[in-house]
Amino acid sequence: MQEGGTIVTLIHLRRPNYPPHFYCKLNEFVFKGRLRLLYMLTRSYQWFVSAHSYINTGPMRVLVTGGSGLVGKAIEHVVLQEGGKLEGEEWIFLSTKDADLLDVGQTRAVFEKYRPTHVIHLAAKVGGLFLHMKENMHFLRDNLRINDNVLQTAHEMGVTKVLSCLSSCIFPDKTTYPIDETMIHNGQPHDSNFGYSYAKRMIDVQNRAYFQQFGRRYTAIIPTNVFGPYDNFNIENGHVLSALMNKTYKAKTEGTPVTVCGTGAPRRQFIYSLDLGRLIVWVLREYEEIAPIILSVNEEDEVSIKEAVEMIADALDFKGKIQFDTTLPDGQMKKTASNAKLRRYLPNFTFTPLQEAIKKTCDWFVANYDTART
Ligand SMILES: NC(=O)c1ccc[n+]([C@@H]2O[C@H](COP(=O)([O-])OP(=O)(O)OC[C@H]3O[C@@H](n4cnc5c(N)ncnc54)[C@H](OP(=O)(O)O)[C@@H]3O)[C@@H](O)[C@H]2O)c1
Repeated sequence: MQEGGTIVTLIHLRRPNYPPHFYCKLNEFVFKGRLRLLYMLTRSYQWFVSAHSYINTGPMRVLVTGGSGLVGKAIEHVVLQEGGKLEGEEWIFLSTKDADLLDVGQTRAVFEKYRPTHVIHLAAKVGGLFLHMKENMHFLRDNLRINDNVLQTAHEMGVTKVLSCLSSCIFPDKTTYPIDETMIHNGQPHDSNFGYSYAKRMIDVQNRAYFQQFGRRYTAIIPTNVFGPYDNFNIENGHVLSALMNKTYKAKTEGTPVTVCGTGAPRRQFIYSLDLGRLIVWVLREYEEIAPIILSVNEEDEVSIKEAVEMIADALDFKGKIQFDTTLPDGQMKKTASNAKLRRYLPNFTFTPLQEAIKKTCDWFVANYDTART
């Protein structure tokens, strides 16, 4: 049987994103008698009461938007193959075939169909550096629309928790390092991807507003550069590691050198999609903050593009020449992110070593060459 109730939250007026001082679930009967008392008690202080209804259907029914992509497939693997799914839970993985989330009618219809209690929101217009530079307007508008459709529909349907996906590339361009979760809005993003960045930053703004006005506990994660099976390996539009894997594999089969765009000097923290999938399931179950959390390997595990391409060459047994086209742009030279917050929660989480994760991804790419996104 579907049960419902009301969540009462005390919110600090000057620091609305601050974790609530008091937070409890009451059924409607108890709630009615107590709200006035609570309100009177808190009027003279800097707190106000927010109350909203929630649905409680027992085990979670989790809707994953963008479930057919790199990160969605990794979560599916963790949930279905690694025992991540608990008894009675239902996990639904969506793609554009189920609903075009740019369209509010289709978004509502798919939420009506599955009535989720929890949402992992991954769907986005994503791409590599060169596509971003060409299409900042599309990245801005499409992502604003998708995110607003998903968050507002989740709110209207009483979804208990939404976990959305930001990215470490949305941080200010001119900043101090390492960057952390508190610095998202501290300055302009890099020029190359400002459309995508501002759209993603608005998710954090919306999460704060849904919490302040309605007490919704919607949050966001900030992964660094993700790679793994089911990535987009397209040489022009793919992410850097996957595009380089495809380039190197091609060069090997054609007996030509590999040409890397730029100097190879920029440094990046890469996270294997399966590690990210495991962390996302943890965030969904355990992380209670509205403020986002960076999901990244440690700072000392950051590598240069040159080091990464050498690992790829090793994994694919490529013996040819690796050359760098220094006439092409590098993008941001570094964007070192701190995972100190994650480490406070999960000090012992073990990331797959980069060389091992690159080898697994290259093996998947070669084995699935005919169907992989190239
Ligand atoms: N990859 C990274 O390095 C990285 C880093 C940081 C953050 N992120 C974030 O992680 C999330 C997932 O990224 P990903 O790398 O897994 O992307 P991906 O492999 O390109 O997958 C994108 C997913 O979004 C879906 N989608 C796109 N437009 C849609 C629309 N209009 N309606 C419904 N679904 C739509 C796609 O469905 P179809 O398969 O049907 O097209 C696909 O399932 C994104 O929010 C991204 O910004 C990614």
